[in-house]
Amino acid sequence: MDYKGIIAKYKDVPGGIIEAFHAVQREFSYLPEEVIVEAAKIFNMPVAEAYGVATFYSYLSVEPRGKNVIRICESAPCHVAGAAEVVEALERELGIMMGETTADGKFTLEYTECVGQCQATPVITINGKPYAGVTPAQIPAILAEYE
Ligand code: FES
Repeated sequence: MDYKGIIAKYKDVPGGIIEAFHAVQREFSYLPEEVIVEAAKIFNMPVAEAYGVATFYSYLSVEPRGKNVIRICESAPCHVAGAAEVVEALERELGIMMGETTADGKFTLEYTECVGQCQATPVITINGKPYAGVTPAQIPAILAEYE
């Protein structure tokens, strides 16, 4: 389905533009500019307002991102438990730094706030799926699931 079809499905849903942005991002991993313009048209609002919605929520992105978005929790409990070492392992394995996307478009590395999995820290999420109690040694095997 193209993005117009996805957005249109949420036209009559209360707060539908957020749902629509979520649904588009699930397909395309970020919100291209034409999606925001189209959503403004469908939800009958100024483009600036639709853009404001797209940039307000940290889980929505208007920047191109990889197919798989890896987020590392940088809140205190994860930080104390060794998130920095996990970051180093991810950067080393993928050959990119935090905030970057691999040249093949497969992976993006981002920080996030606490994702509510603090019972086993540090935590990363990949496309929203949490991996708790992660160690640097586990990173290659975790990444291999997405190759
Ligand atoms: S502090 Fe990292 S998941 Fe809660």
